[in-house]
Amino acid sequence: MQVITINTSLLGEQYGEELCRHLEAGDILMLEHAPFAPAEADKEFLRDQKQSASSAFKNIAYKPHLNKTTGLSADSGMDCDAVHRILSSYSKGAVDYVGRLLPRYGRKWKLDFATYRPVEEEGRDLPLKRRNDLMHVDAFPTRPTNGGRILRIFTNIHPSKPRVWVTSDPFEDLCRDYAIAAGLGSVTSAGAALKRAVGRAARVVGMKAPKRTAYDDFMQAFHHYLKANEQFQQTRMRDTTPFAAGTTWMAFTDQIAHSVKSGQFAIEQTCIVPLDAMVDSARAPLAVLEKLAGCSLV
Ligand code: SIN
Ligand code: FE
Repeated sequence: MQVITINTSLLGEQYGEELCRHLEAGDILMLEHAPFAPAEADKEFLRDQKQSASSAFKNIAYKPHLNKTTGLSADSGMDCDAVHRILSSYSKGAVDYVGRLLPRYGRKWKLDFATYRPVEEEGRDLPLKRRNDLMHVDAFPTRPTNGGRILRIFTNIHPSKPRVWVTSDPFEDLCRDYAIAAGLGSVTSAGAALKRAVGRAARVVGMKAPKRTAYDDFMQAFHHYLKANEQFQQTRMRDTTPFAAGTTWMAFTDQIAHSVKSGQFAIEQTCIVPLDAMVDSARAPLAVLEKLAGCSLV
């Protein structure tokens, strides 16, 4: 895994293509001063907002399609309108700027949530499947992508501390070593297909069940499996990357197994990039897994 610093003076279709190739190879792109990062006063304001420890939400989330922010706790004196304003402005700025930086993705991606992460990650007390300090690939339990890619744009808004990520081996290598044990065989079984058919039937009668594929079932299983596998966690750490205060970085987090060891105060925008927007869709997790499984997973 390489960390590539973006040269903002090269903005254009050709440079965008080069950056997309890096992302698709499992590299991380970094921007030292993203023009869409909140102003200093807004960063300071966000850091002053306290999320109640008992919150059922892991993060505070801005949902662009609803223009709504959830996870706010008015009872703790949080200024909900101002948090919403800052997050929605970050979301619009990131989508606009990165959409111009990576035009082939920006033309086709679907916007997912933007989040604010105010809690110190080191020593955070969360159940195993929700822990951020264990390496994993991302898969959203309630928002299956059906093979679409999870591109995440992060900004560290801490005044001085880095946000430290630890990453693992390339996706292909992790699949070779762990995909079968994580259940790649069973997501294509008759039982699993039947469960998904029940979801399809529910959608036909108008119930709100998002379409799930064998790929989504596997990616979710893989997320859980990697977090629970102590041998993997202990032996497959490869790179430790401190993202300095103020920097912005982006990566395909469905592909790079990552964890955050320490850091407080980050904001993030997620975009779902369809496979036909990729320079080389043969590098996508879906293609890697289908090759290994010997059958279609969508
Ligand atoms: C994660 O996606 O696992 C957390 C990354 C972060 O909050 O820095
Ligand atoms: Fe993650």
